[in-house]
This record gives sequence, structure tokens and C-alpha cells, in this order.
Amino acid sequence: MKISVIGAGHVGLVTGVCFAEKGHEILCVDHDTEKLARLRKGDAPFYEPGMPELLQRHQASKRLQFSGRTEDAVDFGQAIFICVGTPSTERGKADMTYVEKVAQTIAENLREYRLVIEKSTVPIKTGERIRRTISRYVRGDVQFDVASNPEFLREGSAIEDTLKPDRVVVGVDSAKAESLLREIYGGFNCPFVVTSVGSAELIKHASNSFLALKITYANWLSRLCETSGADVDEVVNGMGLDHRIGSHFLRAGIGYGGSCFPKDVDALAHISEELNVPAPMIRLISDTNKDQLQRFYERIEHELWVLQDKTIAIWGLAFKPNTDDLREAPALRLIEKLKAAGAKLRVHDPVAMANTRKRYPDLYYAKDPIDAAAGADALAVCTEWPAYREADLAKVKASLRVPLVFDGRNCLDRKRAQELGLTLFGIGKAPIKPR
Ligand code: UGA
Repeated sequence: MKISVIGAGHVGLVTGVCFAEKGHEILCVDHDTEKLARLRKGDAPFYEPGMPELLQRHQASKRLQFSGRTEDAVDFGQAIFICVGTPSTERGKADMTYVEKVAQTIAENLREYRLVIEKSTVPIKTGERIRRTISRYVRGDVQFDVASNPEFLREGSAIEDTLKPDRVVVGVDSAKAESLLREIYGGFNCPFVVTSVGSAELIKHASNSFLALKITYANWLSRLCETSGADVDEVVNGMGLDHRIGSHFLRAGIGYGGSCFPKDVDALAHISEELNVPAPMIRLISDTNKDQLQRFYERIEHELWVLQDKTIAIWGLAFKPNTDDLREAPALRLIEKLKAAGAKLRVHDPVAMANTRKRYPDLYYAKDPIDAAAGADALAVCTEWPAYREADLAKVKASLRVPLVFDGRNCLDRKRAQELGLTLFGIGKAPIKPR
């Protein structure tokens, strides 16, 4: 099928290349001309494993084209996916400027039936508003449908998640919309869940907030573990084997980040309060998450006593491994706090250093993890990249000025740290101290 995708960000571009991979013809539209120039050369604008290969393969197969004009998207695809950004404003309210603008442009250029599908993470009732906007601005009597098809991809495994999803959810209110979406997803082997538009919109928010709640629960437990002498990994492992609970997203750390959980949790709270349903539990997720990083910072401050002029190595800048995305990354919040306290920072990340340098040109960007540790008074691990899990702790110890490590992701080899006589503070675990 001919499909248009509006917005070549993480969601739009991954959707576009994956539909091309499934045999559809895709036109991907974005107003950022610099980004389009890179894309046309097969150059991915962000780090995502597998993206460059699919971009190049499907530009060569001619199943993936790009344009800077939303009008072209309306002409090209029988189905039009809206994948533009919905940034957060005050207390979680989503900014719908881009979505509204796209809906208007679709309306003004509608000549024959089109299925308009919202894929950006949007507040409940957005489908209804898109429909109203198109009805208001459309010229003449042209038929259209509006559907919701939330995405559940994770950065870093976005292509795999999209090509092999746990489920596809479509919110529709016409048989024609359902049948077109069934055709689009014909090549996907997973449950196909058909709901109302409103339910599909809520499934997305409810899923993300529930995952954030699971992480937050593990993070809160980690505090109890630290004071009671229990070990959070042992506790969540014991819990997760119960199928009703499940082991995923129970890893304690320094809090969740990224472009989705922080924004979506706040958005869910905001929408429900707007609908007169108080949401103290959802607000608490966000507050507890912020506290988790603060506690990590305070632990470092407590151990180092004075931070002014201390050198601290930071491993991991991206909000999670396998991405160069820094949005809401806990590492950046830690950097802000440590800089404000007068510490000097030596930082490393396998792929996110170029993006970090744009924001903080004055940090020392290390050539590898051991170089970051050189002469530092302490090392803080903020992202669990494999390179850090596998790091040679003997070299780390030799490189540090003081063998003091704060593992914010519980990813280092504790047994080895003990053997080497490192001091290691994890999350929700008893500290390891030299005997
Ligand atoms: C998240 C969801 O997992 C996707 O299903 C959803 O489609 C996406 O948001 C979105 O709404 O677009 P993403 O933000 O890419 O995906 O990354 P996750 O893998 O979910 O990680 C989010 C944060 O939680 C990271 O900072 C990660 O370090 C943290 N996390 C994750 C934990 O602290 N503990 C865990 O057990 C799992």
C-alpha cells in the first residue's frame, strides 16, 4: 500500500523504514531540510541500531522516499500516519501545535478518501480533535477516517520492536479504517487488537505509566533494601518469577529518563486531573523518580565530603544504552548538580558524547572509559552500556586516584570489585568496602 508518514523523528522514521521493509511504498515528510538532506544520503539523523541499513536498502528499492511538503503526503498515501512531536508544556500538558497544523494541512489538501492515523503519543481525545479540525478545514465533500495506532517501540531496539511487536493496537470507528489497517499490518505476526479510538489512545498512556510505575516501585524498594540490608536484585528476581508480576522493568537504578516516560506520566496525570479524576498515584511516580537521582547525588556528596575541585568520572550520558538520546537523561541532571557544586568532570559515552558536547562544551570528553577514570576522585556509572559491564576493573582501579565507585545501574561486577579492594556503592545493595 502507498503510505505517507508525517514527521521523520524517532517514531516516524522507524515506522517508515519498517513499513518499507514489509513491502509498502512510503513517503516520509519532514519540514527540517537539513534532516531531509542527510536522510536522502542514507544517513540516519540519530543513533538507532539497524537504521542506516534499512534507510539505504529502501531508498535503493525505491520503496522509501522523502519530501519537505505535507501536501505531498496527502496526495501520496491512502493512509497518512501523523508522527510529529507533542512536547510537554507546564505540568505535563502536551503541546498540540504540530498535530493541529498537520491536521489543517491535510484538510486543505484532501481530494479523495484518506485514512489519517495518529501515531505520536497524544492525549486522550486527540483523535476527536483531529477529526473536528479536518471537518472544519476540508474543502468540499471528501470522506476521511481518523484512527489511532499507538507505537510501543523502545529507542535502541526500535526496529526490532516495530518489526516484531508484542501486539498491534488500532483504535477505529469505521469498518473501512479497520480493513485498511489490517492490510497495512498484514505482514506482521502478532495479536491485532481493535478498539475504539479513545481506548487506543489510553492504552498507550496507561502502558507507559504502568512501566514507569514498575521501575519506580523497584527504585523505592531499593531504598528499603539499603536500610534493611536486603538486596534489590534478589528481591525483584524473587518477585518477577510470579507470572502475574513479571520480571521486566523492575531494574532499580538512578531513575527513568528519555523522551517518553517522564512526559507521558506527567501527561496522564494532567489529562486525568482535567477530567476531574485526581491522580496522586501518577504524580507520585514522577516525584519519586526525581528523588532517585537526588539520592544518588547526595550519596556521592556524602562520601566525597567536599565536591569543590574534586574530579569525578562519569560513565554513560545517554538515558539508556544503545541510543545517543539525551532527553531527560539522569546523567545530565547529575552533571548539572556536580558542576554547580564545583566538581570537575571527565565523561564518557560510546555514542552520546557529540550531542553532550553541544550542551556542555567545557567538560573533558574521554577517549575511552579508562581515560575517563584517570586521576578521578570517584567514578559514577549512569548508563549500563556493555562496555562498562565488561570493563576491566583492575585497570579502572589503577586509573582512579581514589578507588571509589558509584554504580547507578548495578551493572559492574561486584565480586571482582570486592577482590580488587574497590569501594563500590550500588543501588539497593550493601556497599562493598575493602576488607
Ligand atoms: C518507552 C517504552 O518502553 C516503549 O514501549 C514506548 O513505545 C516508548 O517509551 C514511547 O513511548 O515512545 P524508551 O523511552 O525508548 O521506551 O525506553 P525504555 O527502554 O522504556 O527505558 C526508559 C527508561 O527507563 C530508561 O531511562 C531506562 O534506563 C529506564 N529503565 C528501564 C529502568 O530504570 N529500569 C528498568 O527496569 C527498565
